[in-house]
Amino acid sequence: MSPAEPQSPYAQLVSVLERYSDQRTQGKVVDYVPYARLKERLRSLPIQEGTQSWDSVWKVVDSYLAHSVKTAHPQYFNQLWAGQSAPALVGSVVEAVANTSMYTYEVAPVATLIETEMLERFKRVFGFTDGEAQVTTGGSNSNYLALLLALHQRFPEVKQHGVRGLPPVAVFVSDQAHYSMDKAMVMAGLGLDSLVKIPSDESGQISLAELERKLVSCVSEGRIPLAIVGTAGTTVRGAYDDFNGLAKLAGKFATWFHIDGAWGGAVAFSKTERKWLDGSERADSLTWDGHKMLGVPLMCGVLFVRKSGHFDRVCNLGDTSYIFHDGAERQDLGPYSLQCGRRVDMFKMWLEYVFYGEQGFEDRIDNFMALSAVAEDRIKAEPNLELQSKRWINNICFRSIPTVDVDLSEFNKRIREKLYHSGNSLVNMAYLGDNMTVRMIICNKDIDESDVNMFFDNWIAMAIATEQEFA
Ligand SMILES: Cc1ncc(COP(=O)(O)O)c(C=O)c1O
Repeated sequence: MSPAEPQSPYAQLVSVLERYSDQRTQGKVVDYVPYARLKERLRSLPIQEGTQSWDSVWKVVDSYLAHSVKTAHPQYFNQLWAGQSAPALVGSVVEAVANTSMYTYEVAPVATLIETEMLERFKRVFGFTDGEAQVTTGGSNSNYLALLLALHQRFPEVKQHGVRGLPPVAVFVSDQAHYSMDKAMVMAGLGLDSLVKIPSDESGQISLAELERKLVSCVSEGRIPLAIVGTAGTTVRGAYDDFNGLAKLAGKFATWFHIDGAWGGAVAFSKTERKWLDGSERADSLTWDGHKMLGVPLMCGVLFVRKSGHFDRVCNLGDTSYIFHDGAERQDLGPYSLQCGRRVDMFKMWLEYVFYGEQGFEDRIDNFMALSAVAEDRIKAEPNLELQSKRWINNICFRSIPTVDVDLSEFNKRIREKLYHSGNSLVNMAYLGDNMTVRMIICNKDIDESDVNMFFDNWIAMAIATEQEFA
């Protein structure tokens, strides 16, 4: 190629990947620009349609990356996912290049074999060896599917007649459960009135005594307990419910027992941390997201089910002769999914697995916990910081206590926002009752103690500056 010849789009793409993979851990976490100003700035880009110009494409790409939050940055502690791993990134890109859909062996032969193999291995890790597993669009979707499985097991007639005419039902979750359970109730046509939220203790664990009381009162009102849902790693505190206690109640009241382990299920890979999942071997189903704690690119959701046949009962319907064809080689995964077209989400996980293996995953989890202990110790050592909730895993909930008399939630919110706008660090917030808490999540496999300490240095410096504003 002569030097004057323009690069092919694919060669350009490689140079963008190289450039961004250097930038994504350096400089600011985000070049923050307020909404209206960013909108204005992006207006000047060649975003009109049909330019047929690669120049305009790369300009938009540059701008997109320039204003994106660097989620692999060592000062990004915001979500239940962070960082970027090269093998999985290669998997994501290659999967996009091959562009197929998981529904049939015919169009996705290697992907079908890989997904089946990965799920077999993960079933062993999560203790569902004799059951079945399905890749979903994520934790919300897995929780929804689990609810449907419970509903159709209890009332098989729903498949034909729908939920009209069902007796009143009740689904039990803790008040710490992820909001996807609320959505699942709505999408399943059961409604929010049928979702019973049980109080949790100050560590975030569901109260078994309250749950039993509610189960008894619902039954006495003529409601059918349809499912009990525990959480393995709540979204804010990272708390684990007592799964043996929940399993016992599920048995006593003959209900489906589901565990939402979208976030905290990943401790199954760690011999040290697996203790939190004690009792999960008694669950009917379990949600896990490979894109959260393990850090493969979004999305990579899985639903495990104790007994086989449930996916077939709920998902395998309709006239599908245009797509699923009988034949000796028929190993199609599509009939057992809520989706029709589906991305090959397990390919990136497969490459991550091939590269790091289960030992690598275990080391990753153990390292997150060790770094989280560093964060906890730092909070306890700082006179103006307060740990607001027991630390279970790698969720750390804390706040600043200023020396001036101000509203603590307003004060901490201000610090968080200023840190975000400065681009120094990004951390999330939530509420524990009426109190705002800073929720720090440590799940970037490439950070170390110095990054954790830098976060607290940044936070404390911003707290001092904010105190002066309030003084
Ligand atoms: C406990 C829990 N369950 C489910 C979800 C939803 O997962 P997804 O974003 O993959 O739908 C989340 C998301 O944070 C979560 O924390």
